[in-house]
Amino acid sequence: MTTIKIAKTEHKDIVMYLNKINRHGIIAGATGTGKTITLKVLTEQLSKAGVPVFLADIKGDLATLSKAGVLEGKVAERVSSLELNDYINQEYPVRLWDVFGTNGHPVRATISEMGSMLLSRLLELNETQTGILNIAFRIADDKGLLLIDLKDLKSLLQHISENSSEYSQKYGNITKQSIGAIQRNLLILEDQGGDKFFGEPSLELSDFIQTTNEGEGYINILMTQKLFNSPKLYSTFLLWFLSELFETLPEVGDLEKPKMVFFFDEAHLLFNDAPKAFVEKVEQVVRLIRSKGVGIYFVTQNPVDIPENILGQLGNRIQHALRAYTPKEIKAVKLASSTFRANPKFDTNSVLTELKVGEALVSCLNEDGQPEIVEKAYIRPPESYMGTLQEDEYKNLISNSPYDEKYRNSIDRESAYEILLNKVEFNNNTVEEKKVEKDINKTPKTASNPGRPRKSQFEKTANTLINTIGKEIVRGLFGILKKK
Ligand SMILES: Nc1ncnc2c1ncn2[C@@H]1O[C@H](COP(=O)(O)OP(=O)(O)OP(=O)(O)O)[C@@H](O)[C@H]1O
Ligand SMILES: [Mg+2]
Repeated sequence: MTTIKIAKTEHKDIVMYLNKINRHGIIAGATGTGKTITLKVLTEQLSKAGVPVFLADIKGDLATLSKAGVLEGKVAERVSSLELNDYINQEYPVRLWDVFGTNGHPVRATISEMGSMLLSRLLELNETQTGILNIAFRIADDKGLLLIDLKDLKSLLQHISENSSEYSQKYGNITKQSIGAIQRNLLILEDQGGDKFFGEPSLELSDFIQTTNEGEGYINILMTQKLFNSPKLYSTFLLWFLSELFETLPEVGDLEKPKMVFFFDEAHLLFNDAPKAFVEKVEQVVRLIRSKGVGIYFVTQNPVDIPENILGQLGNRIQHALRAYTPKEIKAVKLASSTFRANPKFDTNSVLTELKVGEALVSCLNEDGQPEIVEKAYIRPPESYMGTLQEDEYKNLISNSPYDEKYRNSIDRESAYEILLNKVEFNNNTVEEKKVEKDINKTPKTASNPGRPRKSQFEKTANTLINTIGKEIVRGLFGILKKK
């Protein structure tokens, strides 16, 4: 299969070329115009074509992908009016994940893995505080401190605060007030349940890129009903996940079909009051992840929510109806219609406001990678169930998955440290050359004896089990940890 069918006009199927899916896309439209159903249809078709998918379920209406739909009501009407002779109701392979570990397999990362840039965003730090957190990470990285959970970070901050004048000389001005502010924000993050996210076993990305024995792509759903109450946590988490994909996956160029498709729902949250440097980094990830075989699809109410430089990179476009009452809305409609290659048969601008539910203006990239002329199309109905799952259906999905056992329980800190140590990429040059500070343990780590270092002075000062290896850590884009 080289194409997937997603919609139909009066005359023809609207298809997407599998080898162009990594050219990214957007699904936009006002509330209730059919975005979620479109997302489902795309997901189903991708899964069928053997492409694993990642999406976030904000309203609890996506886990139903795991259950076969019923040919009745509006779905039946659409199947018959669109003459869909290849439509079959079926269930799809679904795995559920949940940062809080209640409605899916827990998704965890270590503080070291996430790095300071994303953590600053998560903690909503101001510029000065962000600077201090950067320093804290630099101190940790220089000294080869692996931070597993929030406790580790807290004790590191405590230690820096107690020795602020010493560290200020080497790293720049560190004030106790700023550290205090970061510590307070850490408490807020903990209150929001953010502490659950940090720890081991941390997520192994390959678990998200799986196909069934029959060759269908697994659909990984991040259950975000609760996470979504903290929009920063939600959007930073998704961005962390994207960056992990970016740092971990090898360059592959253009593939016959993508390795994975990532849907970023409520994408505007990613860019709300984001600093310019941050947006530029997102732009960079979007641009570069293409050649790693990952397609990113932003789902949002209005394309103006997406920064122009990112919007310009989204080759496949599905635009549901937009409202145009206020001057601002009218302007947004104009902008949205201007992004399409016009169809001489209709006026994009006026059709855009008249589309009915489940109808959309669609323009995907053709075989040559050029955007097709925009068509007014009816999105196919989903083949899976429309509605919600029952409690026991959720539970069965989780307990029947092999990842239940792998991720259910968090690992004690000692062994978590060893696991993290095995993953980390170190800067080879620095081990010998750099003088490890005198308050840090210098126990050498040999291949035959990867043993835990003795407790250092720092550990005693910090009054906790912080993990020292005395090797410099390597970081990638967004400052996330480079893995071996
Ligand atoms: N392609 C379709 N085939 C059949 N029914 C559809 C289709 N698209 C939308 N519908 C109907 O319209 C309803 C609303 O669609 P949907 O939930 O996708 O809207 P939405 O844009 O995601 O809304 P919100 O912004 O509130 O999340 C669906 O529950 C379904 O009944
Ligand atoms: Mg929706």
